[in-house]
Amino acid sequence: MGGYGDVGPGVLSTVGATPLVELTRLLPGRSFRTYAKLEAANPGGSIKDRSAYVMLADAIRTGAVVPGRSVVVESSSGNLGIGLAQACRYFDLRFICVVDPRTNPQNVAIMRAYGAEVQTVTDRDRTTGEYLPVRIRRVRELVATLPDAYCPDQYANPRNAWAHRTTMREIVEALDGRLHYLFCATSSCGTLRGCAEYAAEHGLPVRIVAVDAEGSAIFRPPVGRRLIPGHGAAVLPGLFRPGLADEVVHVSDLDCLVGCRRLAAREAILAGGSSGAVVTALDRLGDRIPAGANCVMILPDRGERYLDTIYDDGWVSTHFGDVAWRWRDDAVQTAPC
Ligand SMILES: Cc1ncc(COP(=O)(O)O)c(C=O)c1O
Repeated sequence: MGGYGDVGPGVLSTVGATPLVELTRLLPGRSFRTYAKLEAANPGGSIKDRSAYVMLADAIRTGAVVPGRSVVVESSSGNLGIGLAQACRYFDLRFICVVDPRTNPQNVAIMRAYGAEVQTVTDRDRTTGEYLPVRIRRVRELVATLPDAYCPDQYANPRNAWAHRTTMREIVEALDGRLHYLFCATSSCGTLRGCAEYAAEHGLPVRIVAVDAEGSAIFRPPVGRRLIPGHGAAVLPGLFRPGLADEVVHVSDLDCLVGCRRLAAREAILAGGSSGAVVTALDRLGDRIPAGANCVMILPDRGERYLDTIYDDGWVSTHFGDVAWRWRDDAVQTAPC
């Protein structure tokens, strides 16, 4: 059973209630405790299943979306698109996802397998050189011209953030309230805001560390080129509020990749790029974290969507050169049977 209460039968009842596991091999020599919230366990493979489900269920409840009649339109190149494709199929809604040529073909194939229509914009914005503004314009055009069209607009939709109060509640309950540090990757800021608001409302003395990409517009513009998708944003999201995080760590593409490879080598967890970013962030702050503190990293998605990048040795050496020494000697430390 998932974490969103009385969802009823079917696949969406398994959204949320993901496992929280202790990692004892990832950061040897540290005297704090490290836990991972495995969001890959959601049915569509990522944390964005939570946002997709909650935004759509709310739109159906308010009548903004009518199953069997409405069309949902969103710009996403990754996990939210997959989460929406799944939820729209379940709720009998037509779904059009607007992507660009950089979208991973595997993600497009997954969305299509759920029955989504995928539209690819090919022009870049004249001012910024980015695809994102063109994708957003295309979404607006579709919403304006198609009857009964609805855009969840993850970057500004409060229900996206609301979905993650449940993420935080699950973590806090699993640790009987003894949560000291939370490491959270940011893009739409839905996860960060939902977790931070839950913590504030419940008076939790947790230190929240936002993990952003170098080159992201959220905490430290200007925007720069990023290779690894997932965390980071090209524009400041409407959900962002100053003060959500106690601390911000910026992680480069290379450090994100090293975090992923270490997670695989030391803990046998194959996770996506933003998970590597939170691993790096925790490692970087490690010297300052007191002994005995409970630190939770939210790991947003699974590694299969990055097999042709992060986990491809050829791709890695093309972009970063010979860096495998940074995780080559790592190995899963097996316990005696
Ligand atoms: C892999 C991955 N990590 C992190 C995030 C950031 O989550 P949020 O949008 O809640 O800030 C996303 C969002 O799409 C994601 O796909």
